[in-house]
Amino acid sequence: MKLIRTENYAEMSLEAGKIIVDKIRSNPRLTLGLATGSTPKGVYDYLIQDHGTNGTRYQQVKSVNLDEYIGLKAQDPNSYHYFMRQNLFKHLDISEHHTHIPNGAASDLKQECLRYEQLIKELGGVDLQILGIGQNGHIGFNEPGTPFSSRTHIVTLAKNTREANSRFFNSFEEVPAHAITMGIATILESKEILLLVSGEKKAEALLKFMNGEISEEFPASALKHHENVTVIADRDALKYI
Ligand code: GLP
Repeated sequence: MKLIRTENYAEMSLEAGKIIVDKIRSNPRLTLGLATGSTPKGVYDYLIQDHGTNGTRYQQVKSVNLDEYIGLKAQDPNSYHYFMRQNLFKHLDISEHHTHIPNGAASDLKQECLRYEQLIKELGGVDLQILGIGQNGHIGFNEPGTPFSSRTHIVTLAKNTREANSRFFNSFEEVPAHAITMGIATILESKEILLLVSGEKKAEALLKFMNGEISEEFPASALKHHENVTVIADRDALKYI
């Protein structure tokens, strides 16, 4: 595992953005695994700016997102569909039919999980997966206790995850209680992983990740089984390391 230490959020975003752009330039048909949340937003801003200034093209790039809330339609401003469209896709020349996000409004959610797994397979797997980390060590929406062997599945969100994400909603009650997420085994099949960690709120999770044991009680620790993980963290997140 490689650790890149950065001063702050802006520098973390820049370092990650440069790695992603390099990969796309050397493989214009890359399949990118994307994440939502506050952490990758700066990286997406970098990709948008680079696309405008340096003309990096996304016409043949494919993307698969990690997760989506259950019960929110794609047009809902709190859905991850909406987040991705507003914060990245609409600013790039990526075709809409190349961008994939689990459908949390599907009538048959179990079938939707199977479809998503199959889709990732058909795309030839994820070349580069961007990940954030939850304060409880979740990756995607794989909460503590999720088997490392899990594939795309339906989850009940932990109370502290809903609380952490309630900042985007009007109230805690509005935060969906369930989500669809790529499983841990699905994530581990990515050829390369970039784990982004920013801010003091993530310092304990990062400490546990770096120095703690590998356990299903701390989902991110599964990444230690992967041979190509780069952690890009800022000074506040690295407080205890
Ligand atoms: C969310 C997402 C994760 C994300 C994490 C951290 O619940 N499902 O994919 O990595 O929590 O979010 P943030 O970057 O906003 O701290």
